[in-house]
Amino acid sequence: MGQTRRQFLASSAGAAAASSLPATLRPAGANDRIRIGVIGAGGQGRYDMSVFQRNKNVEVAAICDVHSGHLKETVDRAQANQAGTQPQTFGDYRRLLEMKDIDAVIIGTPDHWHALTCINACQAGKDVYVEKPLSLTIAEGRRMVDVARSTNRVVQVGTQQRSGPHFRRAVELIRNGKLGKVTFARCWTYENNYPNGIGNPPDSDPPPELDWDMWLGPAPKAAWNPNRSERTFRWFWDYSGGKITDWGTHLIDIVHWALIPDDAIAAPKVVSAHGAKILLRDNRETPDTLEVVFEYPGFFLAYSSRELNARPIESRNYGIEFFGTDGTMFLDRDGFEVYPETAGVKEGEFTWRTAYMNFHGGPQNEHNVNHVKNFLECMQSRKRPVSDIEIGHRSTSASHLGNVALRSQQRIVWDGATETLHSATSEAKALLNRPYRKPWVLPA
Ligand SMILES: NC(=O)c1ccc[n+]([C@@H]2O[C@H](COP(=O)([O-])OP(=O)(O)OC[C@H]3O[C@@H](n4cnc5c(N)ncnc54)[C@H](O)[C@@H]3O)[C@@H](O)[C@H]2O)c1
Repeated sequence: MGQTRRQFLASSAGAAAASSLPATLRPAGANDRIRIGVIGAGGQGRYDMSVFQRNKNVEVAAICDVHSGHLKETVDRAQANQAGTQPQTFGDYRRLLEMKDIDAVIIGTPDHWHALTCINACQAGKDVYVEKPLSLTIAEGRRMVDVARSTNRVVQVGTQQRSGPHFRRAVELIRNGKLGKVTFARCWTYENNYPNGIGNPPDSDPPPELDWDMWLGPAPKAAWNPNRSERTFRWFWDYSGGKITDWGTHLIDIVHWALIPDDAIAAPKVVSAHGAKILLRDNRETPDTLEVVFEYPGFFLAYSSRELNARPIESRNYGIEFFGTDGTMFLDRDGFEVYPETAGVKEGEFTWRTAYMNFHGGPQNEHNVNHVKNFLECMQSRKRPVSDIEIGHRSTSASHLGNVALRSQQRIVWDGATETLHSATSEAKALLNRPYRKPWVLPA
């Protein structure tokens, strides 16, 4: 906080230069082809791939998915986008990582697979574009950062809002003190899925096109259920963390960027949470109502999630608000507005709303296009990308801490430097990590 505009621009543009990584094992020249592998070719993996393919020097050389239908759909899309060049296909990502001429991988698996696939990819000498949330637990995230560093890999996390020009401008205004001193921020995600939510289908045998055991991987053995294996895996604790890790991570990430200086540890000191699955009649495990309060040095953040009532704030069912002594900012993917509190900000002076209509859908989405471009540039320069793995780890960790507070019913006191809990119950401590189902182990 309190940086000048010049300092902000210098710190954000210069941070990468100051932290250049050693040269890649297989340095790619500016005109070289960059060969990409896709691990997890469902909704987001396929989408990310098509954004990568907007870059003429990218070739999708291999695709891995444990669902043969998803695999075929993504191969067809890849081929259509690259004049028929056929990617190799795999059902086991470890075989894809054995390909020596793959430079980087996109990881679009469910969250419980991010750690192993990312770590193994780094160890195989690949750079990584891994979707958010970075990890399933804080312990996994820290291990991922350590391995990325020890193997000198470029790892970009899919928190693409950091590459949205208006997000950067909004953060710049806040860091330059345009709102005065910001002591409170809130973010929210509201929907109404009452009464049946995602439904309650019975367990059954997995469909023949799905390798269910490989889909589960390190997660506990479980009977197949359609809600577990498709996009709705987000609402099961074994694979994800519910709305706060799925969406909250995007929003908390921007609050960290705006309110915490680059050289400080982006971690809350205290976290408390209330929430439950109160009414939804489906088989999800994560809450339909959740309120989390984070205490950071100098400010509080409230994250609110509702699945039972969609009344918006500022006409938006998700967003971020920053409350400062001189003004309030509303910010979402369409733009931002600043409402003056004092004469320090003039009415209408900072309104940038619906300026980014090309955010919506399709591979032209500017935030994603820039994010991928930044990753590809960093692969060449060996600089740290805008959503470097440490940044993604901290944003994801805040979401995890909300769930630790909720599930342990404890007010969490967190030491961000050592990533340990103070005077916590064993239940809370256990939630920082998780056992892996054999034969899978989190690499040391
Ligand atoms: N950045 C964003 O805005 C954004 C948006 C949506 C989703 N995501 C993230 O993308 C990830 C995937 O979400 P989704 O909605 O695309 O889910 P999805 O279910 O549509 O896709 C996941 C794919 O991974 C495959 N898979 C599972 N285990 C695998 C394994 N071991 N190896 C290879 N493939 C495997 C599945 O078969 C499926 O095709 C999640 O982590 C999610 O949070 C990010």
